[in-house]
Amino acid sequence: MTIGISDLAFATSHQVLDLQQLADAQGIDVGKYYIGIGQSQMSVPFADEDIVTMGAEAAAQILERTDGIRTLLFATESGIDQSKSAGVFVHGLLGMGEHCRVVELKQACYSATAALQFALGIVARDASEKVLVIASDVARYALDSSGEPTQGAAAVAFLVTADPALVEIEPVTGLHTDDIHDFWRPNYLSTALVDGKYSLAAYLGALEGAWNEYQSRGGADFADIARFCYHQPFTKMAVKAHDRLCKIAGAELDKDQRLAQIAASLEMNRRTGNSYTASIYVGLLSLLERDEADLSGARIGFFSYGSGSVSEFFTGVVRPGYRELLRATRDAATLDNRVVVDHSHYRRLHAQLDEVQGSDYETGAATTGPFRFAGVVDHVRRYERTGA
Ligand code: HMG
Repeated sequence: MTIGISDLAFATSHQVLDLQQLADAQGIDVGKYYIGIGQSQMSVPFADEDIVTMGAEAAAQILERTDGIRTLLFATESGIDQSKSAGVFVHGLLGMGEHCRVVELKQACYSATAALQFALGIVARDASEKVLVIASDVARYALDSSGEPTQGAAAVAFLVTADPALVEIEPVTGLHTDDIHDFWRPNYLSTALVDGKYSLAAYLGALEGAWNEYQSRGGADFADIARFCYHQPFTKMAVKAHDRLCKIAGAELDKDQRLAQIAASLEMNRRTGNSYTASIYVGLLSLLERDEADLSGARIGFFSYGSGSVSEFFTGVVRPGYRELLRATRDAATLDNRVVVDHSHYRRLHAQLDEVQGSDYETGAATTGPFRFAGVVDHVRRYERTGA
């Protein structure tokens, strides 16, 4: 039996800041962002958007095509409650019915890959099961910190089934875990702490560890992998990672050949910014939608990294006919139609989020998306459909 991803849908917040605005405000050359870290924009949530509204928007697209989902796994590291899963809010908004198990998973940017692996296990036990995975995150760093240009927001939802229509996930994986503090967010902070340069080295070290275990367990040779898809805190990180992997694997490819194996996977992330758990699967969608080659039958190598750190290297094979299932026009419009905001508006929104923490409040209707966060009453978060 083959198991894997049968459908994959995208959402992001409905505002966007061009990093030219940030560079101008900081008085630096935008080349540091556009070229140096490989980011052109970052998605900025309206005050009435969060991981639930983005996750629901992505998942609603999957539910338009399927029913009978009995498991919803919600992967995030920007959780909105310490107890209740964000997935239960989505389940309610989408009217998914009571016969469904719903749970939230956390391990920095890695947990969507854990959700994928758990989903594969559920389907392996009963081939009629359908598992919905949602990965949704808002990446927030303190204003004026080194991480500020790598903020962003996005969600993906994907369906895991037997005989998958998009990508079959292969069984061999390589794992790497290390108890480190490269990036973390204590309970009392709404923004992440990071040791920037150390986090880059930790990511690359984990790639080597995961790849080596993948190889020792009988994984595919580097030469048998046509495309690569990396966790992308900023797109240049994936370029650095792929250069490193080529070196470790002894692949003699020039710069253009290396870039050709990842270029299409970078396009959407370059415009959303970091979306933590979602980012590698936004990368997969970008690859499937924007790579000009027909990828039917092509093997993709995935490197999923979550600070702290847990990482995994695994592979999947693209199924024939995958293009017919994609929503490329819609996804391009989702990125193009975001409301452009200026630097002072973005800073005001960033600060406001911290001011309202812990109090009851209402949010004004602002988002142009289909779901909104209406505010907090008696410490309970309220969500509603907007009719959009
Ligand atoms: P920085 O130290 O301010 O930047 O922030 P820099 O001085 O290293 O410059 C960045 C690059 O721009 C350099 O290129 C410069 O040369 C270049 P590199 O040497 O790296 O190839 N540059 C220019 N290029 C063209 N024109 C110019 C120009 N000026 C400079 N004019 C840093 C960089 C990554 C530290 C910062 O963005 C940061 O702290 N980011 C957050 C941490 C992060 O994303 N880490 C990634 C690995 S950890 C991870 O992926 C997990 C994570 O997603 C969280 C999770 O798992 O939950 C973060």
